[in-house]
Amino acid sequence: MRTLTGLQPSGALHLGNYFGSIKQMLDAQEKEDLFIFIANYHALTSLKDGELLRQNTLDAAINFLSLGIDPNKSTFWVQSDVKEVLELYWVLSNVTPMGLLERAHSYKDKVSKGIPANHSLFSYPVLMAADILMYQTNVVPVGKDQVQHVEITRDLAIKFNNEYGEIFTIPEFRTSDEISTVPGLDGAKMSKSYNNTIGIFLNEKELKKACSSIVTDSTPLEEPKDPHSCNVFALAKLFLNEDEQDELILRYKSGKEGYGHFKMYLKELIWDYFEPHRKKREYYLKNSNEVKDILNEGAKKARVVARESIEKVREVVGIF
Ligand code: ADP
Ligand code: TRP
Repeated sequence: MRTLTGLQPSGALHLGNYFGSIKQMLDAQEKEDLFIFIANYHALTSLKDGELLRQNTLDAAINFLSLGIDPNKSTFWVQSDVKEVLELYWVLSNVTPMGLLERAHSYKDKVSKGIPANHSLFSYPVLMAADILMYQTNVVPVGKDQVQHVEITRDLAIKFNNEYGEIFTIPEFRTSDEISTVPGLDGAKMSKSYNNTIGIFLNEKELKKACSSIVTDSTPLEEPKDPHSCNVFALAKLFLNEDEQDELILRYKSGKEGYGHFKMYLKELIWDYFEPHRKKREYYLKNSNEVKDILNEGAKKARVVARESIEKVREVVGIF
């Protein structure tokens, strides 16, 4: 079964990204034929600084490799390294009704936030459909905000297949209801737009500072505390098995420790958990040519599938 996902190269990753999305990709790579790429063409719709986009693209590759995306188990590349996707985007545009894109809420949301209503923003779902259909994808794991884009993809695939024959696999989306939202420093959803994140790759001093600034109530040190209403506990849980969680609950209830202690315990948990990934990242930062080689190899693998799809498409639509 082929699973495909595109990642926006959008800067520093946080614990919400890791537990809400990256861990699922690592699981998928063990069980499924995972195709995973950095969506740098899509990023152009919101990022107009060329140097920054180039840097973010390489950083994203380094971060995902460091966190465990394994090029021997999955196909990992940069979207723009397989240019055939732009050809498919144009071909698909010819079976895309305007009304379908006009109903896309992600477009309407972005425009209502003041982002200029460019054609690229409008046709974003068609490029995403090209990504998905090009690689004959069975399943697209997505957050709820991206479900409609996969539905649009299905509509286009069905329309194309009806007109030209069975060329594309019809993809399904997969959302995970059981994945809970990771809270940020203030208890709201951790998100870079709320400025309440704990970064995965902070240095030790920054991590200590971030953990210290988690909002807690004012229960004094010597009183028992309720772990279940505490943001520090909610974050610590992500790193603990059930026995370890029970131990921490007892510490909360004992009234012998204050929130400061729990915050430093959390800091240690995060620091230790990501230690091997930090090491790998330091290595890749120093050896970015190796990262570029991995991406090139990934693009070669992806292109084999892309060529096969695009040749069939050219044949049936009459491009030679
Ligand atoms: P942000 O909200 O920081 O802009 P993104 O929208 O770039 O994050 O999220 C990338 C992925 O990480 C998405 O799949 C999203 O569902 C997941 N994710 C982000 N924040 C959280 C969170 N607080 N809890 C769970 N998953 C999250
Ligand atoms: N639109 C996705 C996002 O913002 C990124 C993306 C581009 C994607 N192409 C894709 C995701 C294809 C899944 C499949 O997160």
